Amino acid sequence: MNLKDSVAIITGSSSGIGAAIARCFAAEGCHIVINYSRNDEGAKKVAADCEAYGVQTLVMKANVAEDEDCRALVAGTLEKFGKLNVLVNNAGTTKFCDHRNLAGLNKQDFLDIYAVNTVGAYQMTRAAENALRQQEVAHVINMASIAGIAGVGSSIAYAASKGAMVTMTMSLARVLGPQIRVNAICPGFVQGDWLAEGMGQEAYDRTLGGIRKIAPLADAVTPERIADTARGIVTGMDWTTGETIIVDGGTHLHTAPLRR
Ligand SMILES: NC(=O)c1ccc[n+]([C@@H]2O[C@H](COP(=O)([O-])OP(=O)(O)OC[C@H]3O[C@@H](n4cnc5c(N)ncnc54)[C@H](OP(=O)(O)O)[C@@H]3O)[C@@H](O)[C@H]2O)c1
Repeated sequence: MNLKDSVAIITGSSSGIGAAIARCFAAEGCHIVINYSRNDEGAKKVAADCEAYGVQTLVMKANVAEDEDCRALVAGTLEKFGKLNVLVNNAGTTKFCDHRNLAGLNKQDFLDIYAVNTVGAYQMTRAAENALRQQEVAHVINMASIAGIAGVGSSIAYAASKGAMVTMTMSLARVLGPQIRVNAICPGFVQGDWLAEGMGQEAYDRTLGGIRKIAPLADAVTPERIADTARGIVTGMDWTTGETIIVDGGTHLHTAPLRR
């Protein structure tokens, strides 16, 4: 489908990957609904960046873990723009916890992460279904993670929530056709504040250096590189649904020598 004159909701677009997708879609002429839960300054800045491309924006605070907020986000979108073509379920959260430290995560950590990453995406998709079905071609993109495929990443609870998102992508794709395609993106290590702050600068720099050595494409991805993938799905993959695309410069292809 063509992004020009379309309308996209991008959850969690006040920073990072969501903000990059907002700018990328706006550059293609797409009107953007920018969603945030705390960072209103960031959201307003992203809106200004998008409007510089001549598109309209709507900035809405909504906690995707709350069904009422999800429904209000879609209702606000329809009130302003009268239609919805693309939903990007990008909002995400985590708790950084070494996988070896099983005592470091409790039940509430699992539930809190799952409520945003997995249930949030489900609730947003449910709220948006009727509007998306009005289009001949509509897209839902779920921002999962390599964590959800390989069981790596910021914590076991995070990896489990993203693994659930990958299977949910297939379930939703099966039932939301023929109008709505549902695909997932699995970024690997993304350069930026989320990991630098969560891992600590030293571990972040060490990991980034290692990825640059082993990745076939010799670098880790950036929010802008993930945004390119999201644009590619919407503008070039109308006949793909239920797929999960790893975007990590090929890092996952690296096979380390066996070590004891
Ligand atoms: N960075 C990575 O290495 C990496 C790798 C794989 C996958 N991902 C995924 O990519 C997505 C974006 O992450 P990022 O790296 O761009 O981090 P980020 O800059 O921290 O972005 C997270 C976004 O989610 C929003 N958010 C958090 N909780 C929310 C909630 N309950 N309701 C609505 N919005 C909420 C945040 O908004 P506020 O700040 O306003 O709360 C922010 O806009 C996440 O789903 C993450 O799991 C990231």
